[in-house]
Amino acid sequence: MNEQKSTGPALEDFLEQARQAALRSYSPYSGFRVGAALRLANGEVVTGTNVENVSYGMTICAERSALVRAVSQFGPEIRVEAAAIANLNHAPSPPCGACRQVLAEFTLPEAPVFFPTADGMRHLAFSELLPLAFEMKTKP
Ligand code: THU
Repeated sequence: MNEQKSTGPALEDFLEQARQAALRSYSPYSGFRVGAALRLANGEVVTGTNVENVSYGMTICAERSALVRAVSQFGPEIRVEAAAIANLNHAPSPPCGACRQVLAEFTLPEAPVFFPTADGMRHLAFSELLPLAFEMKTKP
């Protein structure tokens, strides 16, 4: 497994990939420019950015944008080993609730998620960000 360390040049590079994605944000309505980078178990890093729409509710967040891209490129077997979020607004930017639930589908519980807070970058294990994710467990 390609473990994402919580310090060092590999992390800096990973965060930079999220920042680069944020530069491509389409956010004329909020001006909030977000980027996400996902490290997959296959060693690939896939990025995404937020793409807004004049019908506001149709906006897609950076995290979901990256995830949809990852599945489209590498298929449904992907597993997210680490995620990084960046925004160019120097604002706290943990993934929203909807993105957490969508990420839960493909993200390992122990995967670190790096995100900006008012006090700088921090990280939490995915299972700490979304305890009790909805799952559909039916009885046989
Ligand atoms: N946004 C994200 O990209 N990720 C989140 O987790 C929360 C919000 C975007 C959506 C919208 O374009 C802008 O940030 C303001 O909500």
